[in-house]
Amino acid sequence: MARLLPTLLLFPLAALAQTRCQWANLRSSADLYTESQTFGTTSDLIFSSSSFSYLENSTPVNLTDSLLNTPLKIAYSHSIIDQDGCATFSKLIITGTPSLVIGTQIFYESTLKNGQLPIKKIDTVIIEEKNTTGVLGHVKKENWESFTRAVQDSREVLVKAVDGWLDGGSVWGETCATLTGSTFSEGEPCSQGLGQVANISAANRRYVVDESVGAVSVLSDVGGVEARVVGGKLRYVHLFRY
Ligand SMILES: *[C@@H]1O[C@H](CO)[C@@H](O)[C@H](O)[C@H]1NC(C)=O
Ligand SMILES: *[C@@H]1O[C@H](CO)[C@@H](O)[C@H](O)[C@H]1NC(C)=O
Ligand SMILES: *[C@@H]1O[C@H](CO)[C@@H](O)[C@H](O)[C@H]1NC(C)=O
Repeated sequence: MARLLPTLLLFPLAALAQTRCQWANLRSSADLYTESQTFGTTSDLIFSSSSFSYLENSTPVNLTDSLLNTPLKIAYSHSIIDQDGCATFSKLIITGTPSLVIGTQIFYESTLKNGQLPIKKIDTVIIEEKNTTGVLGHVKKENWESFTRAVQDSREVLVKAVDGWLDGGSVWGETCATLTGSTFSEGEPCSQGLGQVANISAANRRYVVDESVGAVSVLSDVGGVEARVVGGKLRYVHLFRY
């Protein structure tokens, strides 16, 4: 009996650790990724998991040959934290040469190793965009402040809002704005979703969700979408297509 007790106590903790990651650990891992991209290094321990995989535009790429191995001057970065999915999404804007918008979803192991969360998978969409200075100007004007817990939308509500936009039946709030590449529009065009505007179905969707800022990142076969939802309704949608 004496030996059974610690096992019983530990079990629920172990189960919990597998499903949810600490905010601070995810935050520092996302920062490490951004820093690694700045320096073009892949030597950090977070990249050394035995089950590590790396996708660039949905294609497996050897880390040595990846964009991560090239130093980039990052003009802007923004990350969202998904504790339930043990994942992060980072958007990077590179205004020099090359001129790029990068959207990276990272999925982590839930157990710390050497004080860090080892990365299981990096799934990155890299879009060459002529006018990244224009993109930057719009993105910087937006409000992505976090919400108090009482007014946060659930994961289900957030995913439904973005899926609605991708599929055509979108639910916009009173004010809305879309950024498609570097083309910004506010108002009327927002009433339609991607399915209606471009007759495209974004297949193979992967999600990272941050309830604290009402943000959803979707990577799919058409590229990357990041949206902010306020009160169950879309406020901003950024689309970067191949
Ligand atoms: C990645 O590329 C390096 C250098 O070309 C090579 O040594 C290594 O075996 C490659 N790894 C994989 C998994 O293909
Ligand atoms: C870049 O985008 C901004 C904002 O949309 C626009 O004002 C500017 O004219 C664009 N520049 C070029 C070179 O297209
Ligand atoms: C939309 O795409 C589908 C499948 O590619 C095609 O069959 C249909 O004709 C398209 N509709 C319009 C309005 O372009």
